[in-house]
Amino acid sequence: MKATIVGGSGYTGSELLRMLLRHSKVDEVTATSRTHAGKPVSDVHQNLKGIYEGKFEDYIEDKIDADIIFLAVPHGESMKAAPKLLARGMKVIDLGADYRIKDAALYERYYKVKHDSPDLLEKAVYGLPEMNRRDIKKANLVANPGCFVTAALLSLLPLSQLKDKIDVKKIVVDSNTGTSGAGATPSEFTHHSEVGENLKPYNVVGHRHQPEIEHIINRVIDGAKISFTPTLVPIVRGILSRTHVFGDVGNVNMMEHYARFYAKEPFIRMSELPYVKNVAYTNYCDVGAHYDKENKRVLAIAAIDNLVKGASGQAVQNMNLMLGFDETEGLRIIPAHP
Ligand SMILES: NC(=O)c1ccc[n+]([C@@H]2O[C@H](COP(=O)([O-])OP(=O)(O)OC[C@H]3O[C@@H](n4cnc5c(N)ncnc54)[C@H](OP(=O)(O)O)[C@@H]3O)[C@@H](O)[C@H]2O)c1
Repeated sequence: MKATIVGGSGYTGSELLRMLLRHSKVDEVTATSRTHAGKPVSDVHQNLKGIYEGKFEDYIEDKIDADIIFLAVPHGESMKAAPKLLARGMKVIDLGADYRIKDAALYERYYKVKHDSPDLLEKAVYGLPEMNRRDIKKANLVANPGCFVTAALLSLLPLSQLKDKIDVKKIVVDSNTGTSGAGATPSEFTHHSEVGENLKPYNVVGHRHQPEIEHIINRVIDGAKISFTPTLVPIVRGILSRTHVFGDVGNVNMMEHYARFYAKEPFIRMSELPYVKNVAYTNYCDVGAHYDKENKRVLAIAAIDNLVKGASGQAVQNMNLMLGFDETEGLRIIPAHP
């Protein structure tokens, strides 16, 4: 079984290598990079010194040959590569945004690029296993969810069973993220001296993940409207998401309701007050849910590692489903304390 990571020099590429190299069903992993082709991978990802001897390869479309391809590249690039790779019979997981939203016009409005392969939008399966496991198993093209979106959707899915009791038009998602969410290329915004000892709201109206959360949650909560605010915080990894939903849910015990909903999920853990350190470097999503009776408000809190359950770990979970492996293979990582 061979896996190839396109864009292997970036942060999600790095995480894919870390997980695929410990995966018992993956015999060979290769990674491409335009800027580092020919260089040992461990020159860039120095955590892999003495563990992985491979070199970055050039991305040459006709030469790529693997059972599964991970596209870990910026949005707009995956849709150039995916149609050709799929036509050659390979299975593809896109970690970017190109196939997440089925409405090409909505994608174009938020991502400011023309969609090159709208015909594939219908075939792409949204890669949130807790929602779409059955379809992922049959998919050739999986659109791996956005990181904020993963935390928000996992906070909201159990409320689909209480949708008649909540105000679906006013769902508020407020999230913090670490700096690795912006990828490996440095910028003034994520520069240590700007983020250290700081908390920085950004794209507070119209963040690209808002339409994705809304688009996907509408499959199970009709008419849902999402207000989303992200804040950059001085940690490297992690997303902590607080979702506020208003309505009278009566005597439903929220922790019990969520626990029942997720009872069979291998990567969802219930926790009254989730926090990012408990899930760092792992594919877990810790979820807590509370009912504030006085304000008739449900508060759902979710913590994930943006690079793992928010990206590469979830991608490996999807690969496992697509290729018929145990869903947790390569992902059984025990979180650390402290
Ligand atoms: N970071 C996160 O927490 C996170 C979470 C969920 C989803 N994602 C998504 O995952 C994808 C990768 O994110 P990342 O954080 O890994 O980004 P990154 O660290 O910036 O890495 C991007 C990779 O893509 C390659 N690349 C850059 N521009 C390219 C182009 N025009 N054509 C082909 N390759 C190009 C780069 O390699 P070379 O320059 O060496 O070729 C690099 O290896 C993005 O779509 C991102 O939105 C990221």
